[in-house]
Amino acid sequence: MAKIGIVGCGGIGLRHLAAYEANGVKVSTVADNDKERAKALGEKLDVSWYGSAEEMFDAQDLDGVSICVPPIAHAPISIEALKRNINVICEKPLVRNMEEGYKILEALMDSNAIFMVGFCHRFHPPIIEMKKLIDSGKLGRVELFHNQFSGEMKDLASKWFSSKEIGGGGSIIDTSIHSIDIFRYLVGDISDVSGFGTISISGVEVENTASMLLRSTSGAIGTISASWATPRGAAIVEIYGSEGTCIYDYVTNELKISTREEPQWKVLYHEGPDRFAAEIKEFLECIREGRKPSVNIIDGLKAIEAVQKVYMNDSAISKA
Ligand SMILES: NC(=O)c1ccc[n+]([C@@H]2O[C@H](COP(=O)([O-])OP(=O)(O)OC[C@H]3O[C@@H](n4cnc5c(N)ncnc54)[C@H](O)[C@@H]3O)[C@@H](O)[C@H]2O)c1
Repeated sequence: MAKIGIVGCGGIGLRHLAAYEANGVKVSTVADNDKERAKALGEKLDVSWYGSAEEMFDAQDLDGVSICVPPIAHAPISIEALKRNINVICEKPLVRNMEEGYKILEALMDSNAIFMVGFCHRFHPPIIEMKKLIDSGKLGRVELFHNQFSGEMKDLASKWFSSKEIGGGGSIIDTSIHSIDIFRYLVGDISDVSGFGTISISGVEVENTASMLLRSTSGAIGTISASWATPRGAAIVEIYGSEGTCIYDYVTNELKISTREEPQWKVLYHEGPDRFAAEIKEFLECIREGRKPSVNIIDGLKAIEAVQKVYMNDSAISKA
């Protein structure tokens, strides 16, 4: 069984832990720079715990590590793991900026380890179904893509998400990064991107609401919106093609399909593995089989490149 460590014992660290358990793997060790947090989880699981990733990497001979810390620490911890040939799955966003991304890429090129980016929506069964539909040609040529992830983050000003230094930005780099990757997965590579963000919550230095406009290399147009300040939000992906439409609503779990040939809406409900469990299954299989992951560092870098283009061109958020 693979010997796995988790760095970062917060919200998403616990999702990774559950995902390893769902794949029959007991995590071997945990680390968090909040020592009390690391100790509490280590003792609960009856495994070793550490106050830093480096201590954990030096003490344990790991096959793989989940990096589940805020973006400011993704590059340094990834590089330390890669130097020791430890296989990495790093949470999104890969990094805060391209410079950090290239440093990880350099370390990866000198390492025998694999590197996977935590774009979990690629493992969500309805999104996989949408990809199959598009690839089957039933929707024709994709003309429009729309995705919105919006909701409310309470007490935003007191959280690391509101810090540019820690997160690298706001709702675009944190939330729309998923949307950018879904666009690339379903529609194709990005040729053009623009966007605007707005800062409407006091005490917050990053955009809490934003929209982006994308064009794929095939010419399809995408719109992406995200907000942390809308209690009645949405989580929806829509594809409009020359022969049909497909809409997935994360809230109702409804996947609706209508085509020119079968215009009556067909509604599907996908039961399938939790997206985190499916993502970790891929990571574990890659370690076992010595193969490269389906979601790699290039996917992480391309998403950050799109984010940076929007940040550079929107003076309202770049000067904040
Ligand atoms: N894939 C998803 O859908 C998804 C969802 C939420 C968060 N995330 C990502 O997961 C990462 C963590 O987010 P979270 O919501 O779990 O945050 P969190 O604040 O709940 O937990 C982060 C943990 O990391 C620890 N930490 C911070 N710096 C550290 C360091 N240098 N070394 C060791 N531990 C450190 C903190 O003490 C904390 O326990 C972020 O990159 C976030 O964007 C991904």
